[in-house]
Amino acid sequence: MSPKTLLPLGFSLLLLLQGAASSNYGAALTKSLLYFEAQRSGKLPPNQRVLWRGDSALQDGNDAGVDLVGGYYDAGDNVKFGFPHAFTVTLLSWGVIEYGQQLAAKKELGHAMEAIKWGTDYFIKAHTQPNVLYGQVGDGDADHACWERPEDMTTPRTSYKIDGQHPGSDLAGETAAAFAAASMAFSKSDPSYSSQLLSHGKQLFDFAKTHQGLYQNSIPQAKFYASSGFEDELVWAAAWLYRATNDQTYVNYLGSANTGGTRSEFSWDDKYTGAQVLVAKFIMEGRLPSTDNWVNYKSHAEQFICNTVQKGYNNVKMTRGGALWWLSWNNVQYTTSALLLTISYADWLNAARSNLNCPNGQVSPDQLIAFARLQVDYILGRNPRGMSYMLGYGARFPQQLHHRGSSIVSIKKDKRLVTCTGGYTEWFNRQAPNPNIVYGAIAGGPDQYDNYNDSRPNYEQAESATVNTAPFVGVLARLA
Ligand SMILES: *[C@@H]1O[C@H](CO)[C@@H](O)[C@H](O)[C@H]1NC(C)=O
Repeated sequence: MSPKTLLPLGFSLLLLLQGAASSNYGAALTKSLLYFEAQRSGKLPPNQRVLWRGDSALQDGNDAGVDLVGGYYDAGDNVKFGFPHAFTVTLLSWGVIEYGQQLAAKKELGHAMEAIKWGTDYFIKAHTQPNVLYGQVGDGDADHACWERPEDMTTPRTSYKIDGQHPGSDLAGETAAAFAAASMAFSKSDPSYSSQLLSHGKQLFDFAKTHQGLYQNSIPQAKFYASSGFEDELVWAAAWLYRATNDQTYVNYLGSANTGGTRSEFSWDDKYTGAQVLVAKFIMEGRLPSTDNWVNYKSHAEQFICNTVQKGYNNVKMTRGGALWWLSWNNVQYTTSALLLTISYADWLNAARSNLNCPNGQVSPDQLIAFARLQVDYILGRNPRGMSYMLGYGARFPQQLHHRGSSIVSIKKDKRLVTCTGGYTEWFNRQAPNPNIVYGAIAGGPDQYDNYNDSRPNYEQAESATVNTAPFVGVLARLA
């Protein structure tokens, strides 16, 4: 063979290999749900599939005389932060509501429902009275000063709450949204659980509305997830409660609220776009008129989606390698949550036989889905580094996730206590892959130049969080 024929052959082989490496959304979906089992706090059930984990934090709530065992650890640490925890459950529920059939077709609906229930069972325990909600367990400063497995924790498991004298409309609002969304996810399979969830959601919305304030003023230890405002959680909760109940009360609230304008992110801190998208859906379904404030909600929702898909006035930045770029610390979370919005919107437009009119042209639902697919493919490894940012997916993925439990030998293999500082010397500073793979965890991701520094201390890029993976479940179900 002459060199002339070799070159095109090599080139077409490369194309072939890239084609063969196209994403397996079903496999990624399966892993995304395993992730929530790795993040479980409390007594693990007999059907637990992530076997390197053990029971942990079985005394949570004892300091307050309340049972707060269960729920999820947030990220690479062992604190149960109520605010992102609730957002996680809202997004998981959204995925099940929109893509329950697709999840069932992939035999993952049961796992998705379990992932929601692990969160909502905990929220039920945490919501001890109509106006009392426990919003955090674990002292963040003490926890972050230690590098320990959840099963070994020696740090104070202090419980923190909001109540009538110490309000937190953002926390109560987000938890109300989570309850309302989860009640919809369970409406067919478990109507009595569903109505229990809904009544918690209604109570928490009333609490949030009548006792207004930022939750970190009541729970100073929540400073790691300080909320920039609570109006967005109130409209977000009202939108979910309206969707779940059809009750005019929530329409009245939404109708007189601030629509929030066009936002630059949809995240654990900023839910306006989520509420706007839901209102737009209500308009498309004829549940709300195409007038007044309602049109403003819809138009802001659409501007956000136009900006995301690069057809707007103020497009989201893109890296050279094709990733949406928002912020250097845990960039992926903004992408996965924007994708859940975008694909859901595409499907609602499809149902309404409509397109999206963006400042830079009309975008069809298929084009929205195609855009989302490219972003998902980037996250799963079709990027300049050939690195999948989902752990356990593909040939190359981060080996040094900033994640306490997985970076230390499993308690099932070695029961000796790993101490607060011993964990740093023995495990954190080790130049070696984590001994346990957190399947389905999504690392914070690459920087704005598509680079990734696979180093455990590099928490901006190398830490996973429940809010990264939660919206991805629905997205993957849709694409699979
Ligand atoms: C990678 O991250 C570690 C920890 O943050 C840092 O010490 C190291 O310098 C970084 N390496 C590069 C190439 O940026």
